[in-house]
Amino acid sequence: MAPSAASTSNDLQEIRSRILALRAEVLRHQQAYHMLDAPVISDAQYDALVRELEGLESCYPELAPGPSPVDQVGFAPKREFSEVRHRVPMLSLNNAFSDEDIQQFAIRLAQNLGLKAEALRFSAELKFDGIAVSLRYEAGRLIEAATRGDGSVGEDITPNIRVIQDVPKVLAGQNIPQVLEVRGEVLMRREDFDALNARQAARGEKVFVNPRNAAAGSLRQLDPKITAERPLSFYAYGTGEVRWAAGKERQLATHSEWLDALAGWGLPVATDRAAALPCEGLLKFYSEILSRRSSLPFEIDGVVYKLESLALQSKAGYVSRAPRFAVAHKFPAEEASTRLLGIDVQVGRTGALTPVARLEPVFVGGVTVTNATLHNADEIIRKGIMIGDTVWVRRAGDVIPEVLGPIAALRPADARPFVMPTSCPACGTPAVREAEEAVSRCPAGLTCGAQRKQAFLHFAQRRAMDIEGLGEKIVDQLVEKNLVSSIADLYGLTIDRLAALDRVAEKSASNLIAQIDASRSASLARLLFGLGIRHVGERTARDLALHFKSLQAIRDASPEDLLQSPDVGPVVAASIREFFGNPEQSAIVDRLLAVIRLERLDDRPAVAPAISTAAAQPFAGMTVVLTGTLDSMARDEAANWITALGGKTSGSVSAKTGLVIAGAAAGSKLARAQELGVRVIDEAAFLELIQPFRQQGAT
Ligand code: IVH
Repeated sequence: MAPSAASTSNDLQEIRSRILALRAEVLRHQQAYHMLDAPVISDAQYDALVRELEGLESCYPELAPGPSPVDQVGFAPKREFSEVRHRVPMLSLNNAFSDEDIQQFAIRLAQNLGLKAEALRFSAELKFDGIAVSLRYEAGRLIEAATRGDGSVGEDITPNIRVIQDVPKVLAGQNIPQVLEVRGEVLMRREDFDALNARQAARGEKVFVNPRNAAAGSLRQLDPKITAERPLSFYAYGTGEVRWAAGKERQLATHSEWLDALAGWGLPVATDRAAALPCEGLLKFYSEILSRRSSLPFEIDGVVYKLESLALQSKAGYVSRAPRFAVAHKFPAEEASTRLLGIDVQVGRTGALTPVARLEPVFVGGVTVTNATLHNADEIIRKGIMIGDTVWVRRAGDVIPEVLGPIAALRPADARPFVMPTSCPACGTPAVREAEEAVSRCPAGLTCGAQRKQAFLHFAQRRAMDIEGLGEKIVDQLVEKNLVSSIADLYGLTIDRLAALDRVAEKSASNLIAQIDASRSASLARLLFGLGIRHVGERTARDLALHFKSLQAIRDASPEDLLQSPDVGPVVAASIREFFGNPEQSAIVDRLLAVIRLERLDDRPAVAPAISTAAAQPFAGMTVVLTGTLDSMARDEAANWITALGGKTSGSVSAKTGLVIAGAAAGSKLARAQELGVRVIDEAAFLELIQPFRQQGAT
């Protein structure tokens, strides 16, 4: 806000109140994060508060004199721990959120140093999402370890650090300083976190919301035996005090040389880093790491750029709590807190009743989330979630949003437990839950409207009968107005009937009819998958089609016959028998057979199990990246081919990539491949490579 915007004394009063309120709020969140290891808002939500407060404080410095929590690093140590005074303060980093912020950072830094931005060189590293610690080695032996605390005084956690396997108790190698303080981050790897939570749940103990909280809670234990049971890891990213023995001084001129030296002495240093990058290289590093974020073994919340030259670092110096020579380039937050307004129960295609969280809209993982899965009733109990709670929501990459758990401190007095309905919310049939199963189901099958709708959507989807335009809005109306009662009825629909539906124009009605007509020549594999037989997925449907060669043969097959088809076990065989044994389903299939031609067994290449000799496999041992759009097949199908022919697919291009397949409109990955000199082929060349392996019967 510009100072001139507020002229009256009322306005100024209001701004002062806002500053004070923000300070109190920021302080509360600092306490929750640093002292209690129990944050109640995400970093992104916290950063937004801090940015607002900093903005107001810098525009109106006279309105609220006195210390501000934004100038504070961390928090004073817990009283239960002894104190450790840091000889070199443990500072924080300024954050950047956009490409422009990074450009500004480089320009400001260059101005400060009297240099051109192009002349600057940076190291680029991961920003670990853990707990900052300082490890003190004297004569190569670990003698003390401390948390950051308020930056000047931290907590003595030496016994707890000693039980972390990653942390060397004695340094290895040559030329080790007499005194070496290593700065780094303690964290928990994703797989260790999952295993710990599974163990905690099995013992009926507290489950942690995310790896950072688990790591913080495990490290700051008064009893190091508890820490020892928790799988913690450590990564070094810098140094504090360093003293060389007289006559043994070593000249390390850059930050990256220091990281190499730390690694040489046996300290864990992440290999995902880059040295001496010019400004233009920083954003590339950012996007490369961002694209691999979810496949890293631990969580990171961004990347960090640091001026390489140590001489220039000290020339640039510090501003209040952070260095001028470094910046954290943050990633979009994958977690945020929001209110759980209610829990709806959705009915799936197979009748599974799934509780779904209705949330106050929250921006997380790059989108606004209003719903998130809760999986099943047991999961809600295990996580201790109540309606009205403020909960943590996670959305990572393209994975569907998930509710992680409640924030106990924010539970309102009127929070209420969720009760799983005992009957289907769509049709009222009493729900059943089999002993071994986690989910309740509506047993009504296609007589349940909700299941019927799902059956239509399943039948029409691209991987099944591929009827474009038969989406949720039309299916809802068709089912609710009783225009169709089974999938066979789709083939009796007319343009007039469709055009009479709400918001369906004549043109789209006629397009839809054309699509339905086109589906009459679908392959047997697509029809089988589209029927929605429980446990018969796309691949099994394809195998069955190729094995039995006709729908009649599958209908007539005994369980023993069915077991002869690849990928069919007793459960699948029983499910197929049950489906065709049901007279209603059988009648629907008869009606479908009267209108569908089934000229082909399968219209997509099956991944041939016969492909075996490594010498013949065009992608043997190769990491392949698919980018852009392929005209002739879906991306997962192309990926299947690559794996079947000896390769591995990856989402990002690096020096390790063996081949890039570039479809139409390929963008940054193609550019990166060209930059790295990785071999690139187009769709036609890819089809040529796989052609010899395509099975008979496939087009
Ligand atoms: S350097 C003087 N490098 O981020 C600069 N910090 O938001 C000191 N962090 O307190 C920090 N990864 O706990 C640095 N590669 C990295 C880091 C990193 C994570 C943490 C650290 C720091 C916080 C600042």
